[in-house]
Amino acid sequence: MTDTTFTPRVFSGIQPSGGLTLGNYLGAIKRFVDMQNEGTYETVYCMVDLHAITAKFLDPETLRRNTRELAAGFIASGINPEKSILINQSQVPEHAQLGWIFNCVARMGWMGRMTQWKDKAGKNAEAASLGLFAYPALMAADILVYHATHVPVGDDQKQHLELTRDIATKFNHDYGVDFFPLTEPVIEGVATRVMSLRDGSKKMSKSDPSDASRINMTDDADAIAKKIRKAKTDPDALPSEAGGLEERPEARNLVNIYAALAEMSLEDVLRDHGGQQFGQFKPALVDLAVEKLSPISKEMARLMAAPSEIDRILARGAEQAREITAPILAKTYEIVGMVR
Ligand code: AMP
Ligand code: TRP
Repeated sequence: MTDTTFTPRVFSGIQPSGGLTLGNYLGAIKRFVDMQNEGTYETVYCMVDLHAITAKFLDPETLRRNTRELAAGFIASGINPEKSILINQSQVPEHAQLGWIFNCVARMGWMGRMTQWKDKAGKNAEAASLGLFAYPALMAADILVYHATHVPVGDDQKQHLELTRDIATKFNHDYGVDFFPLTEPVIEGVATRVMSLRDGSKKMSKSDPSDASRINMTDDADAIAKKIRKAKTDPDALPSEAGGLEERPEARNLVNIYAALAEMSLEDVLRDHGGQQFGQFKPALVDLAVEKLSPISKEMARLMAAPSEIDRILARGAEQAREITAPILAKTYEIVGMVR
C-alpha cells in the first residue's frame, strides 16, 4: 500500500476496433458517463488506437474511421468534453513513453500468464506481435501516466488491472519511492455482461457473425424493434422476483437490459412487469430502447458527418491530458535516472 494521497481520478479506454454494441454502451460507456456526472472524480476517457494495432493488420483508413466513430459514440452517449478529458491514445505521447519504462519493469513470466494474451495469441504465439505480448504494460502506462485511482472496466480486464498494480508496486519498490498509486478496478452494475439476443450463454459481441444477436449503436428504431421482437426467449411469463430468473438466461438478459436502460434495479423491473408474457414485455422494452438509443445513434451520425468537429475535440483533449501526463512522465524519468 502507498501512503500518498492521490487525486480521485478515473481513466478508462476502449479499442477502436470498429462497431459499438449495446454491450459496450451499457457495460462501459454509460458507466463512464455516470462516473463523469457523479462529480467525485476527474475523468479521462481514451480511444486506445495503439492497442488496436496489436492483434492484426488494420488498414489505415479503417483505423482512422473506427477511432472517429468511437469518439462520436462517446460524445453522443454523454461524455462531455467540458467535463471529461477525451483523447486518442497516440495523440498523448507520454502513454507510449511510460509504456517503454513499464516494459522494463514487467517480467516475461507475468505477461505470459495473461489469459487475454493466451486467448489472442492462440496456439501460434510465435506469429503474434511483440506488441500483443506487451499490451498489458502499455495499458498500465495508460492508467498510471495519469496517477488514475479508479478504472471502470468489464470483468475480462480484471487480470490486467492486477498486473497494473504489480507494475506500480515493483516500480515503487525498486526505486524506493511512493510514486505510483495502486489503482482500484471498478467492476459493477447490472449490465457488466450483456448477452447475445440469440443465445443467452454468449456475450453480445461485435464479432458475432449474426447481426440479429446484437444491437449496434448505429441501428435505427426499426432495426432495434425488429431485433428485440425476434430475441430468443422461453414460453413462461416473467417472474416477480429475481430468483425466478435462474436457469432462464435469455429472460434474465432482457430484464437486465431493461433495468440498465431505465436505471432501475432488477427487482423493481420485476415488480412492475412480473406476470407479463414476453408478448407484453418486449414492446415495453422496444419503446424504452428506442427512446434511449435513437438520440444517440442520430447524434453519432451527425458527428460522423462532421469529422473536423471530432478532431478538434480530440486535439483539445490531448492538450489538457498532457498537462497531467508530461509532469508525471518527467518525474518518472528523473526517478529512473535519465539525464534531464
Ligand atoms: P471490447 O469491444 O470487447 O473491446 O470491449 C470494450 C468495452 O466494452 C470493455 O470495457 C468491455 O468490458 C465492454 N463490453 C464489451 N462487450 C460487452 C458486453 N456484452 N456486456 C458488457 N460489457 C461489454
Ligand atoms: N484492454 C482494454 C479492453 O480491451 C482497453 C484498454 C486499454 C483499457 N488501456 C486501458 C481499459 C486502460 C482501461 C484502462 O477493453
